[in-house]
Amino acid sequence: MSPIDSPIAHYPVNDFGPLMKGLVIGGVGIVHVFLAQFAIGGGMLMWYFERLGQRGLPDARTFVDGYFKVLVLVSFVVGALTGVAMWFTTIQVGARTIGLMIDEFHWLWATEWVWFAVEITAGYAFYRAGRRLGGRARLRLLALYALASWMSLFWINGILAWQLTPGRWLDGGGMWAGFFNPSFLPSLLFRTAVSTTLGALAACIVINTMDLPRDRRAQLIRRASRFAAPIAVMPVLALWFAAVLPGDSRSWLLGGSMAMTMFVGVAAGASLLVGGYVIAGLIVQRLYINGATATLLLGLAFGATAAGEFVREGARKPYTVRGVLYSTSIRPDEVAALRRTGATAADPYPLRERYPGEQLARGARVERALCDACHTMRGANALVELTRTWADDQLRLNLAKLQRTKGFMPPFAGNAEDVEALVQLLRWERDDRPAGFAAPPASPETLAQIARWLDEAGTAAAGEPR
Ligand code: HEC
Repeated sequence: MSPIDSPIAHYPVNDFGPLMKGLVIGGVGIVHVFLAQFAIGGGMLMWYFERLGQRGLPDARTFVDGYFKVLVLVSFVVGALTGVAMWFTTIQVGARTIGLMIDEFHWLWATEWVWFAVEITAGYAFYRAGRRLGGRARLRLLALYALASWMSLFWINGILAWQLTPGRWLDGGGMWAGFFNPSFLPSLLFRTAVSTTLGALAACIVINTMDLPRDRRAQLIRRASRFAAPIAVMPVLALWFAAVLPGDSRSWLLGGSMAMTMFVGVAAGASLLVGGYVIAGLIVQRLYINGATATLLLGLAFGATAAGEFVREGARKPYTVRGVLYSTSIRPDEVAALRRTGATAADPYPLRERYPGEQLARGARVERALCDACHTMRGANALVELTRTWADDQLRLNLAKLQRTKGFMPPFAGNAEDVEALVQLLRWERDDRPAGFAAPPASPETLAQIARWLDEAGTAAAGEPR
């Protein structure tokens, strides 16, 4: 590999300051997923209530034509906007990942976009013309809207699941093997169950705002609650999902990474609370749910979604596409060459800040290339704090053996000088950037020791054979 083939040279570098890159994507992603899933469940629910209305349930049509319709519309408009925002942020943070996804799944993306266009068109047509249409046309339009929104989930789900569990695609199985990968089905079913639950909870809030006697609202709520019933199978789907995860990812979730384990707990706990209330209270005992409680449950469901998405993204570490591309946009088979050329030999981009001396500037470039997908210097997952108590040699050792320090980090893709430059940068940052800082020149013995540590660690990821 010549230096200019290096991935680092391909795409411009973006610096999100104290915001960790992964968090920027995660934040937009969580809002997007929540709204998009609500729009799917909401669409199905509108179809169901339209049918109930045509079969004589009073007030069902008022519900479909009223506030709920607006809510679904808003959620798909904002859902679409945040979807665009996802593209905007991911092409800045992980252009190479997106490039690979498009290379592999070009026509499947196109299919997804067609369904999405149908969803938008059907939804908008119903919004504009729904009131003037006859019963059959209304039902058909709503069915089309619900189907199209679920189909866009179907297609995007396969591509996202592939990132985590590429399955037989890794052995040359091709596009369909990648699409129908091991986590395809559990995550599709799981997301469908989430969608209908979100739709049901939002519906309960809306029904409470309707100007109706309580018993008539209760009738509507009983019907809407049925849509939350799939939450009962979510524990099974979650276990199924966990079972198809690669062993190391599963171990992060089950104690290997404290942050991830806690988020698993939050997601499971919040889902259990929502599920318990829905099943025991709404479905079995047929209780009435007021607006405040429904809002609380929807809030909990948002928390569960946020934690769940965080876990799904985190479980991929150290990869964005498992086995193929690290979070740093470096391919596993490029690490060995970067060990020889250095991590920054092909980095043409200027640094945002000035550093006293060449070595610290090099350290900053190394950090940008190898760490800042998952860390910041002082903000989220701050390197300064994580390493504050480490002595210099401990730092050298742990950075050189990065994938052995924590299995969810990729191997260090640079040479001994890169490690040393990063160590000195961390020392300087740790002491709050002292003015007269002069890094001691690294002795040949130190560099040789680092090189030995790099060799001992090898160039493979922690979970791979060395
Ligand atoms: C794929 C994402 C990822 C990349 C890339 C990454 N790290 Fe990490 N690193 C993490 C996570 C997640 C943690 C766990 C943080 C925690 O425990 O709170 C971590 C922990 C650490 C720790 C603390 C380890 C310990 O045992 O306490 C250090 C030090 C560290 N990283 C340094 C680096 C450096 C330096 C780089 C770049 C050369 C880097 N990391 C690249 C994700 C990453």
